[in-house]
Amino acid sequence: MVCAGTRQAKQGALTIVRRSSSKGKEAAAPTDEQLDQLDLDPEHLPAVDTPDACDKAALRLRYLLRQLNRGEISAETLQKNLQYAAKVLEAVYIDETKEPRPEGDQRAAPAPLPRRRLRTPCWARCSIDRPEAKRLADEDDELSEVQPDAVPPEVREWLASTFTRQLATAKRKSDEKPKFRSVAHAIRAGIFVDRIYRRVTSTALMQFPQDVVRVLKTLDEWSFDVFALNEAAGGAAIKYLGYELLNRYGMIHKFKVPPTVLENFLGRIEEGYCKFHNPYHNNLHAADVAQTVHYMLCQTGLMNWLSDLEIFATLVAAVVHDFEHTGTTNNFHVMSGSDTALLYNDRAVLENHHISAAFRLLRDEECNILQNLSRDEFREFRTLVIDMVLATDMSFHFQQLKNMRAMLTLAEPVVDKSKAASLVLHCCDISHPAKRWDLHHRWTMSLLDEFFLQGDKERELGLPFSPLCDRNNTLVAESQIGFIEFIVEPSMGVCADMLECVLGPLHGAKGPREPRGEGGKGDYHCLD
Ligand code: CMP
Ligand code: MG
Ligand code: ZN
Repeated sequence: MVCAGTRQAKQGALTIVRRSSSKGKEAAAPTDEQLDQLDLDPEHLPAVDTPDACDKAALRLRYLLRQLNRGEISAETLQKNLQYAAKVLEAVYIDETKEPRPEGDQRAAPAPLPRRRLRTPCWARCSIDRPEAKRLADEDDELSEVQPDAVPPEVREWLASTFTRQLATAKRKSDEKPKFRSVAHAIRAGIFVDRIYRRVTSTALMQFPQDVVRVLKTLDEWSFDVFALNEAAGGAAIKYLGYELLNRYGMIHKFKVPPTVLENFLGRIEEGYCKFHNPYHNNLHAADVAQTVHYMLCQTGLMNWLSDLEIFATLVAAVVHDFEHTGTTNNFHVMSGSDTALLYNDRAVLENHHISAAFRLLRDEECNILQNLSRDEFREFRTLVIDMVLATDMSFHFQQLKNMRAMLTLAEPVVDKSKAASLVLHCCDISHPAKRWDLHHRWTMSLLDEFFLQGDKERELGLPFSPLCDRNNTLVAESQIGFIEFIVEPSMGVCADMLECVLGPLHGAKGPREPRGEGGKGDYHCLD
């Protein structure tokens, strides 16, 4: 890597290095002899944000390339060294994505809206025998050949956001301007690592059956048919949908999730949902909520407002939000004095269990999709998932809406990302009445089946019936109208206001607007 001066990086910031020996010229490629003597043990590497790390990473990449060509390398060595190289690249700060301002323009730069583009579906990458997939795969390869001067701004933006932490964390001092040459080299190196990483992961990517692929083509639609997916997937809806979503948002790549570990994790999550054979709270419901969250993220533009880690946490929260549901309500747990109610002191009993059991699963190395997160990333991820899943407790519903409404009516609302994502997840959790009639009808019948089974248990235990649980005395239609009118519709209303508040300014919406509910001032201005 050739850069504009030797500078020691501060944490998460710039490491721009000039090779002291080459004085701005390209360094000579290492000889075979040098490569033969390379110590490949990842333990003996310098810290990623040091100048020496660039040399070491480059040397290792050369070595890996040679060994790959010879077919003499273990997946583990490859993975560890690529991860190291990726981290070195992430420590290189690139600030070439901003448009130059006209001279004398002193205004603060407008916050750029990073427009995400979802990745190629993994089933399209895997099935290279299909022409459409082949074209996409070819395009990927072409990208890796591109010369830095020819990199268009949006590609550069993507590269910068993928291979540096610039958009998420770091701020450059005004006097630290990298030369384009340094950026170009970083981009080239980034493409190089990305290409190798993709080669490794794409060979390991899960295969998708043709029937699953067919159903997943409608993944971006509001009335996606998760029942059809489950059928096509032989009952493994979460496995394919979870995998596909994490791939589409680039999470597998960004957080270096080993594909087999992801497969294990999703498989175990799926099992947990099937443990009690619930008519409603099963793997289908989890897959349905995850797909609806995806719709909200991509169709509203919410994904452009959230960071990678926030998206990762939101998708995982959706997938695990009812993990190991017992098919009975919190009220039943409390009234029957279940072990779980005892453990969680009657508060958010099920929700606490869903989270705790999911994080317990993540302690198993074979299922730990968070294994390559830094300590800070892990803490943030965990906090987000806990907050989001706890907020699916229906007893928090009115408070949640009230808090959000109150905040939106402030003169200058500041929407907290975790609260926004929590509200979105909550809305997706109760969204089936807003879906196509046949889907909604099926969900409602399943839920009532589950409620009635609980009623049967309550009768056996001599407990009073919980609401909607007495199969002989429940007004189904009326209860549904009430649920839609008093719970679902107001939730969607507040969620829409919240989305307009945070996304309106980013998408150029102008002028004041009246929020729903208790009325307010409008013309929202929101901060990250
Ligand atoms: P859960 O999925 O844990 O969280 C959202 C809750 O909303 C869900 O459990 C049910 O308790 C409730 N819910 C969802 N759909 C309906 C419905 N059609 N009628 C009544 N309650 C519902
Ligand atoms: Mg729940
Ligand atoms: Zn749910």
